[in-house]
Amino acid sequence: MSKSIVINAKSYAIDVPDDMPLLWFLRDKLELTGTKFGCGMGLCGACTVLLDGQATRSCVMPVSAVAGKSITTIEGLSAKGDHPLQIAWIENKVPQCGYCQAGQIMNAAGFLATNKTPSSDDIDNAMQGNICRCGTYQRIKQAVADAAI
Ligand code: FES
Repeated sequence: MSKSIVINAKSYAIDVPDDMPLLWFLRDKLELTGTKFGCGMGLCGACTVLLDGQATRSCVMPVSAVAGKSITTIEGLSAKGDHPLQIAWIENKVPQCGYCQAGQIMNAAGFLATNKTPSSDDIDNAMQGNICRCGTYQRIKQAVADAAI
């Protein structure tokens, strides 16, 4: 029986090699290119998606390991780009080059789902593993705080 996976509320057959990272299944197979490749080693956070609601690094996750699970990518976070985080991101003019920002938002989405009233330290701790080479950290932090309100 073929394996399947739910991505942004649609079911897909996993018809690729079992060891293909979820990131490449999303990008190359489904053309969901909002999720980015940064380090490929689980270190930068650019590839973050939600796995059953929890922030997960898709570059080090074999697609076969998440068969039967539900994945949300930046494309599926909201119907019209109007998730509170996306609104806060725009209002705070967070991105500079933008490359890491989908991963930042998805990491924040997983975090805020478990902590609706985060402290400043909570936000720092939750977001510290997502690297931004432009150094937009203060704006990211403000946007996460704004979205939590
Ligand atoms: Fe996955 Fe860097 S590309 S953590």
